[in-house]
Amino acid sequence: MGPGVLTSSLPFERREGVLHVGTHALDTFAERFGTPLYVYSADAVVAQVRRFREAFQPLDFLLAYSVKANGCLALLNRIGAAGAGADIVSGGELARALRAGIHASNVVFAGVGKTEAEMEAGLRAGILAFHVESAGELRLLAAVAERLQIKAPVGLRVNPDILTDTPHAYTRTGHAATKFGIAVDEALELYRWAAQEPWLDVVGIDVHIGSQILDVAPYLQSLDKVLGIVDILRDEGIQLKLLDLGGGFGVGYEGGPGLTPEVLAEALIPRLMGKGLKLILEPGRSIVGEAGVLLTRVCFVKEAGGKTFAITDAGMTELLRPSHYDGWHRIEPVHLSPGAPEGPVEVVGPVCETGDFLARDRIMPIPSPGDLLAVGTAGAYGYVMASNYNARPRPPEVMVEGEHVHLVRPRETEDDLLRHEQIPPKS
Ligand code: LLP
Repeated sequence: MGPGVLTSSLPFERREGVLHVGTHALDTFAERFGTPLYVYSADAVVAQVRRFREAFQPLDFLLAYSVKANGCLALLNRIGAAGAGADIVSGGELARALRAGIHASNVVFAGVGKTEAEMEAGLRAGILAFHVESAGELRLLAAVAERLQIKAPVGLRVNPDILTDTPHAYTRTGHAATKFGIAVDEALELYRWAAQEPWLDVVGIDVHIGSQILDVAPYLQSLDKVLGIVDILRDEGIQLKLLDLGGGFGVGYEGGPGLTPEVLAEALIPRLMGKGLKLILEPGRSIVGEAGVLLTRVCFVKEAGGKTFAITDAGMTELLRPSHYDGWHRIEPVHLSPGAPEGPVEVVGPVCETGDFLARDRIMPIPSPGDLLAVGTAGAYGYVMASNYNARPRPPEVMVEGEHVHLVRPRETEDDLLRHEQIPPKS
């Protein structure tokens, strides 16, 4: 087997040559719902939530699932029912979390550009904390809170100035020269100001250093910085209750366990024990990433410029990560025929862009037209980043739960694409 065909990670397993999720063969889904198609295992998602909650049991702990990784309402509902809250970045995500049954008192709201309307929605819902990212935002939040006569629970998102080693520059957020967070000195000033404000309730502190981080060391570094601030503020009489270390815990795209809850817990718990702080973590990818695949069918295979192109019915419109971040996703045939010839393949989509690919130069069994491929670790930042570019309808989403198979969002239709547009009469 070449490097492109790793043994599938759970919950997707190969049995008698065919990829399965639980007891279901993936080709049956392709026949029933068509391709391209997202398939999620709710059982795997819930198991990850439980793993985090168990690992951090010794602390007062909230898992605030990062909705941006996968906002599928059905999955969110199961995530909430398993005891998680939500980390949101927009009014849309707030609406989604609430609709899914997640309690507002377990919701934290981050993002550098919250609008007044979004602040108002968060205040009215009664969320746990706003993670404020600038002085201007803090002032506006105070004004909105006063207008509504609802005290705003606030934590400042601190920029710890740590450069993390993520696979792509676009997913690093913890160094000084980004738009995220507030430098430590400025944060101290703003805390002092906020503590005097009658319509602000200073409750916590927040940090998020990037995404797809596999090493625990940068988390310890940022925890130390944040605890330093907590101590300074406590000495000044400002007592914080919530410490949010963000998310970003890496998964094993190329195999391996990623940065596991157990490894994190072992490193973080001793430093937080007895501090009187509630720890919040905001994992997104590590909750849903491995629990999803994108199924796609090979339309044509063509040779050009010395390369073999497998043209699939999914591309950058369904899964943007390879194109946008050079993201590497496992791609495997759903039916593996032993002895099939292998070689380097360009797995490309149908979109009219040279940057439209799922994998480049991938050593894999050379596909034939009609073959079904599974793109692995597609549960995070897959559907949520899908677009209608080239007027392509977004794919359906299927959620598997034990024996049950639920179509939780149907494929968009051409009517869906045209629904909100109007042609005004010529004047
Ligand atoms: N908390 C905050 C404040 C965040 O900005 C993010 C992700 C998370 C939590 C969750 O991070 P996770 O645990 O999922 O790594 N689209 C990119 C990833 C962007 C992440 C943005 N922020 C990708 O596909 O790699």
